[in-house]
Amino acid sequence: GGAQATDRALAGLKVVVSAGPTYEDLDPVRYLGNRSSGKMGFAVAASAARRGAEVVLVSGPVNLPTPAGVKRVDVRSAAQMREAVFAAFPADIYIGAAAVADYTPRLPAANKIKKSSESLALDLVRTPDILAEVAARTQELKLVIGFAAETERVAEYARGKLVAKRLDMIIANRVGVADGGFESDSNAMTAFWKDGERAFASAPKTQLADELVDLIVERLHA
Ligand code: CTP
Ligand code: CA
Repeated sequence: GGAQATDRALAGLKVVVSAGPTYEDLDPVRYLGNRSSGKMGFAVAASAARRGAEVVLVSGPVNLPTPAGVKRVDVRSAAQMREAVFAAFPADIYIGAAAVADYTPRLPAANKIKKSSESLALDLVRTPDILAEVAARTQELKLVIGFAAETERVAEYARGKLVAKRLDMIIANRVGVADGGFESDSNAMTAFWKDGERAFASAPKTQLADELVDLIVERLHA
């Protein structure tokens, strides 16, 4: 069932949530970003706080109000997000809802890149995988939860990430379809863990977040 104001199932626990996109600067006026709105991560943070958790929300650039009872830390790049996440530890639960850039410019230009030849190749390097690092390094964590936005083979790719990153749970959703995804207010998604899964019907992100936090409480005691 949904969260009641009296449901304090996460009281005494610290939850770190990452949300939103990251922006990787190319030069003083340009960046590489993505379409993440941050809504899902913010809704999950709000829901966890309503259940009594101490919540730190590490947010990339978004246009959303800070949920009640949540400590918000604003960052821009993947590197800054990684620093802020580890600075928020120790914690009991990590929920990686951010759409972290996979690549960042090897060297951001100090001055505006000028137009010259007919084509331009960017030199990009991999960013650290914050979620995998959290799952690998942090022993006090009771649950490490990731998200996976996929355009195809959703269950297969999500389960692959669950195993590869040693997560306790991954929440997958299909992006690039009419209903759901990065910019919409509602979404359909499926949670996968080692020996189970649960489908969530398309619903507003605030409701999905409550249902997801219900499942997190269940898995915490499993
Ligand atoms: N993630 C992260 N740090 C990164 C990249 C991703 O913490 N540098 C986290 C995201 O917050 C999300 C999960 O990993 O919880 C899955 O992100 P996703 O982009 O779906 O997977 P990737 O491992 O980056 O693989 P790919 O983009 O190739 O599908
Ligand atoms: Ca990625």
